[in-house]
Amino acid sequence: VRRIGVLTGGGDCPGLNAVIRAVVKTAVKNYRLSVVGFENGFGGLIQNRSRELTLNEVAGILPRGGTILGTTNRDNPFHYSMLIKGQRVFRDVSDRVIENINIQEIDALIVIGGDGSLSIARELCETKGLPVVGVPKTIDNDLSATDQTFGFDTALNTATEALDKLHTTAESHHRVMVLEVMGRYAGWIAIEAGIAGGADVILIPEIPYSIEKVYEKIYERRDHGKLFSIVVVAEGAKTAGGELVVQRTVEDSFEPIRLGGIGNLVAKQIEEETGMESRVTVLGHLQRGGTPTAFDRILATRYGAGAVELVMAGKYGEMVCLRTPKIESVPLAEAVGEMRLVPVDGDLVRTARQIGISFGD
Ligand code: F6P
Repeated sequence: VRRIGVLTGGGDCPGLNAVIRAVVKTAVKNYRLSVVGFENGFGGLIQNRSRELTLNEVAGILPRGGTILGTTNRDNPFHYSMLIKGQRVFRDVSDRVIENINIQEIDALIVIGGDGSLSIARELCETKGLPVVGVPKTIDNDLSATDQTFGFDTALNTATEALDKLHTTAESHHRVMVLEVMGRYAGWIAIEAGIAGGADVILIPEIPYSIEKVYEKIYERRDHGKLFSIVVVAEGAKTAGGELVVQRTVEDSFEPIRLGGIGNLVAKQIEEETGMESRVTVLGHLQRGGTPTAFDRILATRYGAGAVELVMAGKYGEMVCLRTPKIESVPLAEAVGEMRLVPVDGDLVRTARQIGISFGD
């Protein structure tokens, strides 16, 4: 191996730059490899848009949020959207990816991405023989093959800080404050931020809720002289009827993120029923931005270094993962598509219940 490529795909996430930096440092300092960064995810690989990643190029990026390479949710080489004579068509351009890899004389590709990008990486590896190694990324923390994805800890801290701030204003105004957080189909950010930020109610997709139980909790607090309440709602929360309260998926993107769907609904219902002033905060993409926490910087660095070691060991089609306390690897085939949800009877939920937090069930 003399030259490796790297790209970041899917939604951005704090710690991406820390991974890129660790890949370059490990590759250059230990193995004297050269590194090429493809721009804007698989789009850069399809269009051969890239740049050399030298030690200089990655200097100072460790604490920076986002990704210096750019990213996108689009541009799947097996289903690539093109405009031909004004018509939108989808084509398989995966051969072009292989051509560009050959033109650049790249021996292995490191894909830093979530479920979507890692699925593409796996397909390129299995059907086109591309030597690929994956690095798991998502603030949602919903990949079953690893104990934790990088980016989650930063999102969690952002949500916790938001709850601390909401607490003081909620208490002063005797209001119910509803905080809607991200997490897609999983409630990790909601439950952990809710516990860390002292929430009274946490609504997560894993535990369908009934709004009446939410009112009950607020009344119970009021009866004990607590004239404010804090409610954390995961964007994917659903009612006990099993139905999602708000229409979720629009072209694989989450509608509530743009519209603040479920948070607004819950706050409105609470105000109408209890007569207590309620306000909603939709934290949205604040959870994806900014500087990574120390934990995420360390995890991302370990993943980056680990990915280069996988390349050097010829372990293609694998993804680095955290099996606390070690960085190990799993086949991409096992890693993608396996969602890790909050265990309903698990420790976290139990602890939350023990201290009186309601899940609205
Ligand atoms: O998967 C990460 C995530 O931030 C989810 O928590 C959220 O549902 C989604 O991406 C938002 O996607 P977009 O940035 O495309 O609106």
